[in-house]
Amino acid sequence: MTDPPPAVSLPAVGKPTSRYEARLKVTGRAAFPSDIPVKDPLWAFAVTSHIARGRITRIDDSKARAIPGVVEIYSYANPPKLSQPKGLAQGGYAMSTLQPLLSPVIHHDGEMIAVVVANSYESAREAAFLVETHMVAERATASLGDPGSETLALASISPRHHDRGVGDTEAALAASDVTMSEEYTTPTQHHNPLELFSTTAEWQGDHLTVHESSQSIHGARAEVARQLGIAAEQVHLVSKFLGGAFGSRCFVTPRTVLAAWIARQHDRPLKLIYTRDQGFTLTTFRAETRHRIRLGAMRNGKMTAYTHDAWELSSRYDDVAMAGTNNTVHTYAIPNIATKVHVERTDRNTPGFMRGPSEMPYMYALESAMDELACKLKIDPIELRRINDTMHSPINGARFSSRSLMRCYDEAAAAFGWSKRNPEPGSMRDGDWLIGWGCATAILPMNMMPASARVSLTRKGEALVQTASTDLGTGAYTVIRQTAAQLLGTSEQAVTVELGDSNLTPGSAAIGSRTTASACSAVKMACDRIVTRLGANFARTDLIEAAFDQLQVSTVEEYAEFAPLNGSIAALESMHNGGLVGITRGGDGDKVLMQAFGAELVEVRVNRLTREIRVPRIVGAFAAGRILNALTARSQYVGGMVWGIGSALHEATEIERRSARYTNKNIAEYLIPVNADVPHIEAIIVPEEDDEVNPMGVKGIGELSNIGTAAAIASAVYHATGKRIRDLPITLDKLL
Ligand code: MOS
Repeated sequence: MTDPPPAVSLPAVGKPTSRYEARLKVTGRAAFPSDIPVKDPLWAFAVTSHIARGRITRIDDSKARAIPGVVEIYSYANPPKLSQPKGLAQGGYAMSTLQPLLSPVIHHDGEMIAVVVANSYESAREAAFLVETHMVAERATASLGDPGSETLALASISPRHHDRGVGDTEAALAASDVTMSEEYTTPTQHHNPLELFSTTAEWQGDHLTVHESSQSIHGARAEVARQLGIAAEQVHLVSKFLGGAFGSRCFVTPRTVLAAWIARQHDRPLKLIYTRDQGFTLTTFRAETRHRIRLGAMRNGKMTAYTHDAWELSSRYDDVAMAGTNNTVHTYAIPNIATKVHVERTDRNTPGFMRGPSEMPYMYALESAMDELACKLKIDPIELRRINDTMHSPINGARFSSRSLMRCYDEAAAAFGWSKRNPEPGSMRDGDWLIGWGCATAILPMNMMPASARVSLTRKGEALVQTASTDLGTGAYTVIRQTAAQLLGTSEQAVTVELGDSNLTPGSAAIGSRTTASACSAVKMACDRIVTRLGANFARTDLIEAAFDQLQVSTVEEYAEFAPLNGSIAALESMHNGGLVGITRGGDGDKVLMQAFGAELVEVRVNRLTREIRVPRIVGAFAAGRILNALTARSQYVGGMVWGIGSALHEATEIERRSARYTNKNIAEYLIPVNADVPHIEAIIVPEEDDEVNPMGVKGIGELSNIGTAAAIASAVYHATGKRIRDLPITLDKLL
């Protein structure tokens, strides 16, 4: 009889460790999916629409077919035989349900209308530009509020979301000492990961191998199989290294099955690669949003009412909503709340998830409104958050499993020197530079999904960890390796981690900052079982080999399945089929809320004469449960705040309203922060213990720090100049 082994306790903040696969990437040895060589491939190039709404009357591809090396040209005249994609709302893994090439109808600018297949990329591209398309255009609706848009209430479209509220906001606003009411808007944004969108498809008999960067291995495998009408087991999806994602590779887009279907017709491997500009219309994006917010408070700062009406853009054919009010309602102790989200159908491609999909725009609006309320109340904006801090949801009384928001503010404020702030706008100057200090809250619901892992350990101390999750480049390989090494008492170098392959047991999708919480929890369960099996001897370094000898084995292997919040067996079964059962978002909603928190404090400097805006420093403090690796966590926090600078000051996809077409579909004119725009950024890790969230005690952090930055910068710009810009991005022309 052996005693149970002593529990290995992981530190509250794990050792800073470099991403070990980074060396492979910078030396060119990490093969990205588009780099995987295949024998004698066909090359495909997409032809896209130059109108946003109307129909094709004729396609003349005779000149294109005359280009040497052209093999075939597909369009609605000879359409592929594919099932319609299944959207998220229907339990599928596609964001857009539009299958291209099936009809002459044009739904949005840049829609795929033909695919040229050739023996070389160059032939395919040259021929694509020679495909003559004749179209009749109709008046297209470009954006929110434009003529022809169709507005739907959230309740009518989405089983995932509903409008939340409590109390009587109108009565509360009427009885408030101070109220504010303003509108805020956020623009279209595109994720643009460095690696272009590409698919390599190769068949071996009835079995398909897809090399494609994906955030959701088993979900994507199931969706690809469904659209092709084959079994999931016939599809092998490989995605070991990604050149960025940010939400753009969450779901299957039509490229994947098109590449697979065409490859099969010609019995040759095929590569379909989008150009940079095609990525703007053939994948997803962050849709523009509009918000009307009213807040009420008493003189002492106690908030009384919060109303939030929001409008989000979607396509004509998919009603996609982010509905960030589902989270904002839990942020402060406000007894009366009313929210209403609307979705507007327009002639655009279907939007999707982009870093902090619902939280970023909705918290920008709420946190900007909080700053305006603080100004009206003449209360310090951090104090206003403190007065209205809460450990329970005002909506339903659900408690937070942990919430360290004010500790984040306190640590950030001390590091920043916030106490020296003069609240009067325009009061702080340095020569020709107007100085402004602003702050905002970051929140991120703790998302999780079922995940499984297989772990083995040899008598010599070599471990293998397998789970089909994805490392987006943020450190999953490294933190999984660190975790397994600590739990198994072996060195990190002795642990091999395999991810990103559908032949492995299902891992968590790398969506919504959930990989570490979900996949690492499964890894921990498997490691704990190995330690238990090896018994008491295993705890003593001098007796490890004896522990194996006692069992008469050279290797111990364990498999474990993790379902969040004690989820059901049905959730685990669904995981194997790439299903969506058992995915949790921010706790269970009724009894317990699980969220990560942060506080971001920024300084801006606005030139008195030119209105040039600089951000010399940001201090962010974040509490997100156990941190497995202080270095990769810090990198994520800093990266998120850099992204936040982009949201505040640079990023916008411009739309030509009459034609409903994007005008800056390239990374020269789609502005992002460059080194000169990125100031001193400090990320403070606030230790937090939360044993309730999952076996690892970790919360998601990937998207946390990007939320709040834009509101903090907007508030700082107001503090510097006395001018409130409520329309992102804040460009200097808006300040003139
Ligand atoms: Mo994230 S927008 O779920 O990659």
